[in-house]
Amino acid sequence: MGVALTPFDEAYQQDPYAVLKQAQATNRSYFDSEFRRVFVTDHAAVKKVLRDRDMWSDPRKASQDSFSAMFRPDQRDDQREPSMLFLDDPQHKRLRNLVNKAFTPAAVEKLRPRIREIAQELVSGIESDPFDIVAHVAAPLPAIVIAEMLGIEEANIANFKAWSDTSTATFFNPFRSEDDLAAGAEAGAKLDALFREQIRLRRDNPGTDLTSAMVLAREGDDTLSDDEIVSQCNLLLVAGNVTTTDLIGNGLKALMENPAQLELLRSKPELIANAVEEMLRFDSPVTQSGRIADKAMEVAGCPIHQGGSISVSLAAANRDPLVFEDPDTFNIEREDTSHQSFGGGRHFCLGAPLARVEAQEAIAAILARFGALSMHSFDYRTTPGFRGLNELWLAAQ
Ligand code: HEM
Repeated sequence: MGVALTPFDEAYQQDPYAVLKQAQATNRSYFDSEFRRVFVTDHAAVKKVLRDRDMWSDPRKASQDSFSAMFRPDQRDDQREPSMLFLDDPQHKRLRNLVNKAFTPAAVEKLRPRIREIAQELVSGIESDPFDIVAHVAAPLPAIVIAEMLGIEEANIANFKAWSDTSTATFFNPFRSEDDLAAGAEAGAKLDALFREQIRLRRDNPGTDLTSAMVLAREGDDTLSDDEIVSQCNLLLVAGNVTTTDLIGNGLKALMENPAQLELLRSKPELIANAVEEMLRFDSPVTQSGRIADKAMEVAGCPIHQGGSISVSLAAANRDPLVFEDPDTFNIEREDTSHQSFGGGRHFCLGAPLARVEAQEAIAAILARFGALSMHSFDYRTTPGFRGLNELWLAAQ
């Protein structure tokens, strides 16, 4: 319950899967009285909740005392327009339709050569041994890719990355202090100013980047306001940067801890796409998502009132023994890759194709450069709902 299901708890941080397995064995769905939410660990129920078209995602519809209420703009002293993640249809659909063209698998495949080039450049810049692969590759790659997609100049990318990290860490942390909130708000304001300047430049002189596409986007007579574009840009950072960094970090760690799988991937590089799916299942960067009950109901046997919060444990679902054979085994040839790591239904991760390509290219570039690799040390971050490494030191021997 509560803190015991967050990385602030030492046991959970070291091995969330052992803690979740125990929760799953006791009760597949139960009321967490500390955070006031129903917590779901059952794969079938998680899938059903995510795909339920009536449930809500807008925290303004959540009961005042529920877990989801912490995402309400009034609770966060947030003047921004809500992003699509926290909106229901028709507003959600409208925003998603205006940006989704840039993120389809076909659009992302066109970016693959440039993503490969950036990954190879970052990898070839590694000169020390051992080296922190998070700092050298996993962290900069998604920031550079999304910055280039948005048309942000190279000189601004380092600031852009630092502000987006601070903003994300504060956003999802239910234990944030006043100081954290102030730091998050300051980083958020700087990012907003950067986006507003980008939008101003593109309104005068549109290009082919995603900011221009949002400025020019039209669905019938509908266009996006500056506030809405700023909010979408923020969501792309919050939702896309740290998560992709974590996929690369967690995936490499799994390979280092399973040398036979590492050798298999080296001998059959064509397995990279399936290997990344298994990395997503085995150690997902996002460990939970949520919905709000639109009416009184039961979720996998646990009653919930209208406006109550439902947290679905993607991490527990991904290791559900009722679905996956040997769920705790990392197997890059696993055929069932029905993981829930990108959520589902209307809010299914918009950036899934991009995250997949970035992780595939980063890991392929690292393995191509270093013929032998071993794990030196690592350090976990403590953002609730996420799982990822601050540092992952590898040695090339
Ligand atoms: C491995 C990396 C990533 C993971 C594990 C991940 C995971 C998720 C999850 C779990 C959700 C919520 C889905 C739901 O509740 O049904 C989500 C939503 C979202 N993600 Fe990702 N994400 C990743 C990368 C990205 C990237 C690279 C981008 C864009 C640049 C992105 C953009 C979004 C957006 C915009 C949403 C909201 C979609 C909506 O509300 O319709 N994500 N992601």
